[in-house]
Amino acid sequence: MRPLDARAIERELARLGASLGSPLSVAAETASTNDDARSAAAAGAPHGAAFLADAQTQGRGRGGRSWHSPPGENLYLSVVLRPSLPASSVAPIALVMGLAVASVVERRLASSARLDAPGGGSLAEVRLKWPNDVLVGGRKLAGILVEAQLRGDSVSSVIVGVGLNVHTSRFPPELSARATSLAMLGIDGLPREVLAAELLQALGDAAARFEAGRLAPFAEDLARMDWLRDRRVEVAGVAGVAAGIDAEGHLLVRGADGVLRAVAAGEVSVASG
Ligand code: BTN
Repeated sequence: MRPLDARAIERELARLGASLGSPLSVAAETASTNDDARSAAAAGAPHGAAFLADAQTQGRGRGGRSWHSPPGENLYLSVVLRPSLPASSVAPIALVMGLAVASVVERRLASSARLDAPGGGSLAEVRLKWPNDVLVGGRKLAGILVEAQLRGDSVSSVIVGVGLNVHTSRFPPELSARATSLAMLGIDGLPREVLAAELLQALGDAAARFEAGRLAPFAEDLARMDWLRDRRVEVAGVAGVAAGIDAEGHLLVRGADGVLRAVAAGEVSVASG
């Protein structure tokens, strides 16, 4: 597989007028692009500084899980954000970053001539599993790791790391039943550089809209893309049926007692069947 071409990403970013991606660092291999972005942010990297790698040796997911990061196949991208927000308002940015990634995927699937290919995706299938897994056809296409650095009541930086499965055609056995890639959805031959630029543009736009209007501008998309809605879930000790996402970005769960509870954070397990 051809290594990532930093110049091609820069050309695409300029063409799209993206607000993120400068400065841009592209490594052949790194431990974790989120770690690279975090160290750079601690050393003063500006809003928009982006870190990509062709492979990660210690790619991280939420909850301390590892992220499958083989060389040359997929996108591993992290960006430094410096939003002007009070610390108390920053958490829902994780949801908004998920929506931004989902919107790029949705557009690409919509413009794919092979939308009806066997196993292919469809517009209706791109969903966000709270807080920010991007699923197509119920399988995970992209994962997002958001790590905020707070200084007192203000936000010093937010690192947004995106892992998007692009060319992978076979996942390890432990992932094969629940993961997918753009190639498996019928989108092949799309340069990773183009996708990287589209992701950075979408993340930048979403971050700016969130800073201006918090979750309000995203309410419709959050409801439309909510994969958990009406599924039986258990999260943070709360069990019941998922009933949407509130204005603070909390997951609403209706218990067997009929009471609606709002969950701020946690890993959701979904009952099968
Ligand atoms: C998850 O679904 O648990 C989040 C996965 C996030 C993976 C990306 S890949 C780029 C960045 N670097 C990391 O180490 N993790 C994120």
